[in-house]
Amino acid sequence: MKSIQLRDSFGIDSLALADVPWPKPGPGEILIKVNAASLNYRDLLVVDGVFFPNLEFPFVPVSDAAGQVEQVGFGVTQFKPGDRVTTHFIQDWEDGPFSHALLSSGYLASSLGGPRPGILSEYVVLPERGVVPTPSYLSDEEAATLPIAALTAWESFRLGSLKAGQTLLVQGTGGVSIFALQIAKALGARVIITSSSDDKLRRATKLGADFTVNYKTNPDWWQSAKAATDGLGVDHVVDVGGQDTLNQAIKALKPGGFISVIGILTGVECKFDVLTFLRGNMRLQSLSVGSRQSFAEMNRFLEEHQLHPVVDAVFPWSESQEAFRDLKAGKHFGKLVLRPS
Ligand SMILES: NC(=O)c1ccc[n+]([C@@H]2O[C@H](COP(=O)([O-])OP(=O)(O)OC[C@H]3O[C@@H](n4cnc5c(N)ncnc54)[C@H](OP(=O)(O)O)[C@@H]3O)[C@@H](O)[C@H]2O)c1
Repeated sequence: MKSIQLRDSFGIDSLALADVPWPKPGPGEILIKVNAASLNYRDLLVVDGVFFPNLEFPFVPVSDAAGQVEQVGFGVTQFKPGDRVTTHFIQDWEDGPFSHALLSSGYLASSLGGPRPGILSEYVVLPERGVVPTPSYLSDEEAATLPIAALTAWESFRLGSLKAGQTLLVQGTGGVSIFALQIAKALGARVIITSSSDDKLRRATKLGADFTVNYKTNPDWWQSAKAATDGLGVDHVVDVGGQDTLNQAIKALKPGGFISVIGILTGVECKFDVLTFLRGNMRLQSLSVGSRQSFAEMNRFLEEHQLHPVVDAVFPWSESQEAFRDLKAGKHFGKLVLRPS
């Protein structure tokens, strides 16, 4: 069967199609025919050797996929051949809060697409507890976008208890942020979104964004966000930028407000504005995607609201390098998807 691998080194140029043996499901495992995969920013960090510099080659990258069960191993009870399933990112996190156990054998050691092998193969074998049923109203291309990006946005709102009528600030128009916009609108929140592109901001408005700011032409965008709330500040921020955005997020936040520290798009080191944070009685919470139970709860919500992920472009596997280059250039709005042929 075919697989896309990092052959012998890191870097997008090293991604290549390979012939590999078919995997077989053992006890408690299922064989899945992969029909679609989606890219996340972390996949780029893995391919570039930033996240796991000691990975062994060849390595199959990419975390998120949707497909169909082909075979089941001994003792499998939850799935049968023909069932549609979507992969769960942190395989060992079934339910409950994030725990030390998930770190005990290395940072998120059970995560697909680094350090565990990824899903860019025609067939993959996973434990049955490592997938969720695919919501029937979604295509596989849509479902493949959910495991990391959608669940991260959902977890942010679950942990911060985002409510109808509150104001959310999201940064940029990548995968996590566009899911955050869509889910927050379905929850009845008001959404302020930033982007480097006016075209993307127009697309965000069509998806329901209430207020938009171009962070390139308005580098102090926190002031626009605050003004859009009559000077009160926003209730909740999904911070995907890190270094260059966190202090602006704090300035844009209402006293008692909540910030999810999620991403590192602009870097990992910043001088933290302790005084504004302290005076504001604010809450800062980091998170790592979410549990399988939370994934299933989110899927029920998405189905109830008939939310469709924004798939910006679909690439055949033969164009994986182009897909990764587009991801790196930040050309996309929402999600980029790969399909086997
Ligand atoms: N903690 C977790 O569990 C978790 C889960 C998922 C993702 N993440 C992290 O969250 C971040 C986003 O991931 P993703 O997969 O959604 O990324 P993505 O789809 O690649 O999003 C990229 C977009 O981010 C925007 N962006 C870049 N620099 C920005 C800045 N200075 N200010 C505002 N927006 C900026 C750009 O939007 P415009 O083109 O509109 O400007 C860019 O297109 C990454 O750092 C990723 O590692 C963390």
